[in-house]
Amino acid sequence: MDRAGKPDGMVVTIVGSQLGDEGKGGIVDRWSESADVVVRYQGGDNAGHTVVNDNQEYKLSLVPSGAVRGKVGVLGNGCVINPETLLSELDALRERGLDPDLKVARRAHVIFPYHRELDGIEERAKEGKQLDAGTTGRGIGPTYEDKAGRRGIRIGDLLDSEVLRGRLEYVVPQKRALAESVFGVETGDAFDVDRLYEDYRGYGERLREEGMTVNTGAYLEDEREAGKEILFEGAQGTVLDIDHGNYPFVTSSNPTAGAAAVGTGLGPAVVGEGAIVGVVKAYLSRVGTGPLPTELGGVEGQTPGYEANGGDADDDTEDEETLATEIREAGGEYGTVTGRPRRVGWLDLPMLRHAARVSSLSGLAINHVDTLAALETVRVCERYDLAGEALEAIPASTERWSRCEPVYREFEGWPDADWERVAEEGYEALPENARAYVEYVSNEVEVPIDAIGVGPGREQTIVLDDPFSRSE
Ligand code: IMP
Repeated sequence: MDRAGKPDGMVVTIVGSQLGDEGKGGIVDRWSESADVVVRYQGGDNAGHTVVNDNQEYKLSLVPSGAVRGKVGVLGNGCVINPETLLSELDALRERGLDPDLKVARRAHVIFPYHRELDGIEERAKEGKQLDAGTTGRGIGPTYEDKAGRRGIRIGDLLDSEVLRGRLEYVVPQKRALAESVFGVETGDAFDVDRLYEDYRGYGERLREEGMTVNTGAYLEDEREAGKEILFEGAQGTVLDIDHGNYPFVTSSNPTAGAAAVGTGLGPAVVGEGAIVGVVKAYLSRVGTGPLPTELGGVEGQTPGYEANGGDADDDTEDEETLATEIREAGGEYGTVTGRPRRVGWLDLPMLRHAARVSSLSGLAINHVDTLAALETVRVCERYDLAGEALEAIPASTERWSRCEPVYREFEGWPDADWERVAEEGYEALPENARAYVEYVSNEVEVPIDAIGVGPGREQTIVLDDPFSRSE
């Protein structure tokens, strides 16, 4: 409440409950209709979302999707920002007649070309040692490393050429030595101080000219006090969280809800006061390596042990491979950023229980219910068996997680339907078996359902409870 007694705007946080690609974009899109400001609080251009507006398709990896719909888009201090991506996405949107209102935190760290190169160099060095995460190659890890090492360069530093020059002169020789002496790789322009200085000073000038940089916390607090509704848009997912995910097969930030406070400069009470919606895909998908107990079939270069086993990670039957292909095709399970086929598996409740606790989820949005239609049976992993021990949630050690055997519950499948009609008519129009499935999931995770996605468009979402209208 501000001094005049006007109520503050509501805050809603949307997080991925699994391994990213849960369809957060569609949900964010749907609820950003009620929001005034859409804020990203972590990650960078490793995320990818497709927004459809007025029959136009926009592929974005950094700009929050709300910016396409005339909302203010903010990239918080917890993000890592590649200015080249940011400005080229902005230019591309302008060329298509939009004028997005974008703000970038002066405290956010900048991704430089040497970060991208080092990302690839280290992934290659890890290959064959079961340590590579299958990163998106966008320099995310190396940039967060420099942030934690207190040698990073922030957006605010790009605005001051003397500071920028000094920082580059300190850090770039170290990076060059790392690439050349430790990894034995030849370096070029990406490690050239003069070149970097010229390019990045230019980006800084443009950000200043366009008035795009802000102190995010202060900006958002003012907006909230003015009654504006704020939506925090998490990227990636809980099991990719550097603290709460399956380390080291994770990204280098915290996609979980706590980071919405740290990554923007509003306090945890503000985030906790609002709804926190966990987006769930009705099955599982993952891009990259690491264990996945409920995986069906496997994908070369990503499923651990796949090549060593002659293209069969764990003696899957041919049926499972076929099923995996069917789900992959039906769900369009190919990476938005990298185009890689995604690994797929059955829904994993131990993973969702973990996500619900870590992010204090107040609601679930269950997507891709249409993708599973027409399967004879649908399975859900209700708990794990680890050498005779029953586990309700994922264990903290990745090695133990990789030895977990899923214990499944089977559901009768549901028929294909006219999903547009189902979305229009609402929850009761959902096939009975699909309702039994989502209600079981919600009961097991002890979190109510806010929405169900039955197609890619924002109109194809059944809203049971709109978090922005809760206090009204
Ligand atoms: P990085 O974020 O590029 O460092 O990649 C680390 C891990 O996170 C890899 O396994 C990636 O495939 C995964 N990852 C990163 N961003 C996304 C995303 O937006 N969706 C799904 N997986 C992601």
